[in-house]
Amino acid sequence: MKSEWTYSGINVEHGKNTFSNFEVWNKEAERLKETAASYCSDFDEIKDRRRNSILLCGQVGSGKTHISIAIALNFLKQKIKVVYMPYRDIITKVKQNMLDQEYYRKMISKYQLCEVLLIDDLFKGKINESDINIMFEIINYRYLNFLPIIVSSEFSIDRLLAFDEGVGSRIYEMCKDYLVEIEKGIWNNYRLR
Ligand SMILES: Nc1ncnc2c1ncn2[C@@H]1O[C@H](COP(=O)(O)OP(=O)(O)OP(=O)(O)O)[C@@H](O)[C@H]1O
Ligand SMILES: [Mg+2]
Repeated sequence: MKSEWTYSGINVEHGKNTFSNFEVWNKEAERLKETAASYCSDFDEIKDRRRNSILLCGQVGSGKTHISIAIALNFLKQKIKVVYMPYRDIITKVKQNMLDQEYYRKMISKYQLCEVLLIDDLFKGKINESDINIMFEIINYRYLNFLPIIVSSEFSIDRLLAFDEGVGSRIYEMCKDYLVEIEKGIWNNYRLR
């Protein structure tokens, strides 16, 4: 298990983010947990389809990352290889290395090619043209090759589409069947409960 975690980029802290530790404390948490659980149980059947992905978006602190990691841990147990991409850290690192074409390609291809990609906190922070271009390269590759993504983002679907329709609509189409948008409001913030 340890070596699989290392490959995936999931750390020991994340180990607590399991399904069993996820409290159903309100309607939104229930929706998150149920959608994630169905995604896990359907995965084997849907994994090669266009709609083989899951999007958890909306309210900050509502448990999106927790439940995304729970899915990843569940997959890793079944030897399904998930790669964890903390969006902000990775996009910064990729941009710092853009001049080194070889390194850039190598980094991007890890996220393009992996069996399942978990993109955590998509479009967090200030975004510009090159962030969009990098994400398009990754998402479009996965879209064309029917490779699943697990996405968490604090933005609504409308906002994701407004950032970039190309990226947003591909994510939407892939995640259509397993999609939770948490209503914005501090009453849905587990950190402030
Ligand atoms: N339903 C829940 N049961 C138990 N713990 C929870 C639940 N929801 C959230 N948490 C815990 O609250 C903290 C915040 O949750 P998490 O990071 O998953 O939220 P998020 O929606 O990803 O927030 P952000 O938009 O800021 O990234 C974490 O420590 C998480 O484990
Ligand atoms: Mg999060």
